[in-house]
Amino acid sequence: MKLTIFGSGYVGLVQGACMAEMGNHVVCCDIDEDKIARLNKGEIPIYEPGLEAYIERNVEAGRIEFTTDVKKAVDHGLFQFIAVGTPPDEDGSADLKHVLAVARSIGDHMDEYRIVVDKSTVPVGTADKVRAELFKSLKKRGKAIEFDVVSNPEFLKEGDAIGDFMKPDRIIVGTDNPRTTELLKSLYEPFNRNHDRVISMDIRSAELTKYAANAMLATKISFMNELANLAERFGADIEHVRQGIGSDPRIGYQFIYPGAGYGGSCFPKDVQALAKSAADAGYDAALLNAVEDVNLRQKRRIFEKIEAHYDGKLNGKTIALWGLSFKPRTDDMRAAPSRVVMESLWEAGANVRAYDPEAMQEAARIYPDQDGLELCETADSTLEGADALVIITEWQEFRSPDFDRVKQALTDPVIFDGRNLYEPSLLQAMGITYYAIGRSNVNADSAQPYGRRKTDMVDSF
Ligand SMILES: NC(=O)c1ccc[n+]([C@@H]2O[C@H](COP(=O)([O-])OP(=O)(O)OC[C@H]3O[C@@H](n4cnc5c(N)ncnc54)[C@H](O)[C@@H]3O)[C@@H](O)[C@H]2O)c1
Repeated sequence: MKLTIFGSGYVGLVQGACMAEMGNHVVCCDIDEDKIARLNKGEIPIYEPGLEAYIERNVEAGRIEFTTDVKKAVDHGLFQFIAVGTPPDEDGSADLKHVLAVARSIGDHMDEYRIVVDKSTVPVGTADKVRAELFKSLKKRGKAIEFDVVSNPEFLKEGDAIGDFMKPDRIIVGTDNPRTTELLKSLYEPFNRNHDRVISMDIRSAELTKYAANAMLATKISFMNELANLAERFGADIEHVRQGIGSDPRIGYQFIYPGAGYGGSCFPKDVQALAKSAADAGYDAALLNAVEDVNLRQKRRIFEKIEAHYDGKLNGKTIALWGLSFKPRTDDMRAAPSRVVMESLWEAGANVRAYDPEAMQEAARIYPDQDGLELCETADSTLEGADALVIITEWQEFRSPDFDRVKQALTDPVIFDGRNLYEPSLLQAMGITYYAIGRSNVNADSAQPYGRRKTDMVDSF
């Protein structure tokens, strides 16, 4: 089949590559000329495991191409996918300007029946706005051409995006026309061979399903972070609690890791956008607002622990920082907790020596010529001249470091671990002071390292 995908980002490129892999003919169209030029030179602008090989193979086979030519893109595909960004507006709502710009472009150029499929995460009711833009553009041209608008939200996760797209848990198809449902089903047939994963529904329910999924996952994380903060105050160990509740199949082990807060391009903006849509509809989404508030606080927890450890005297300190991306196996730093930690450290006068296996270029792009930031080539080299070590992203290579080397390199052997990667008793035995999340199991002072007793209670929020 022939399809066009507008937006060559994390979603558009993965979808394009996977659809081409199944034998379809894909045109990827983006307004970013530099990105398209790089793709046409064989450079993949993002890090996503497996993506490069998929694109290379399908470019060679002539099944995928990249262009900025909108007319060519609209002429190509029966299916016109919209996979552009929907960043948060100032008030937290989803900014639809890119989605509606694509709708206008399609209306400006289409000459025959098209199925416009929204893959971007958009508020309920967006399909109506897309339809209205298409009508407006066609009317301006004096054309009456048939089209359908479909909601087909994407559920892939960065770091595992190819696997998720090739073997989806579900394919949500929101339509108001049975014929379009059938056409979408046949496009997705190759991803569906094991059993039917298509769940068809009305358009508004499909739009809401995507927000519901992300909001549920974000809620699990914020719930666990709240419990971690309680564990610190109650003298409990959240890691025991995690295992204790995860064993209940109604709760499960997934998405109940306490940590430095969730980031990325989806959870923060989608929870906010859903809460804003709720407010616009006259409903105070108390739970969603709390999920977001807990997360914003959680992103500051590690900094608060560092600040408390040094009694607020961070000026001139040098902090080694491992992990910049918002999670492992991606270079994406959008809304990453590392940014909150680094920016707080800089504000307090500290220097950061940072390393990430994949996000170094992205960090250099976000923080060009940043005073107090040194990007180091290895995890080990961040330790040179550093006072303390902070871990923000749980990349595999950070899981079992040479603790002797860490201890000997740091002027003050202390580790602040935003992902609970290490065994506290082991570090304690080695003489390394260790702060984790929710593991200060002996008193209520969250600034205290694991295993040290202190009588005065400090509420650090
Ligand atoms: N990243 C994820 O893990 C993920 C997962 C599921 C859903 N989503 C949703 O999918 C959408 C896309 O996310 P992303 O992470 O791929 O975004 P992204 O920022 O990586 O990519 C978006 C691309 O769209 C391009 N673009 C903007 N306006 C355009 C236009 N008029 N025509 C053509 N291209 C245009 C941009 O240049 C950019 O390359 C968002 O709504 C997001 O919420 C993202």
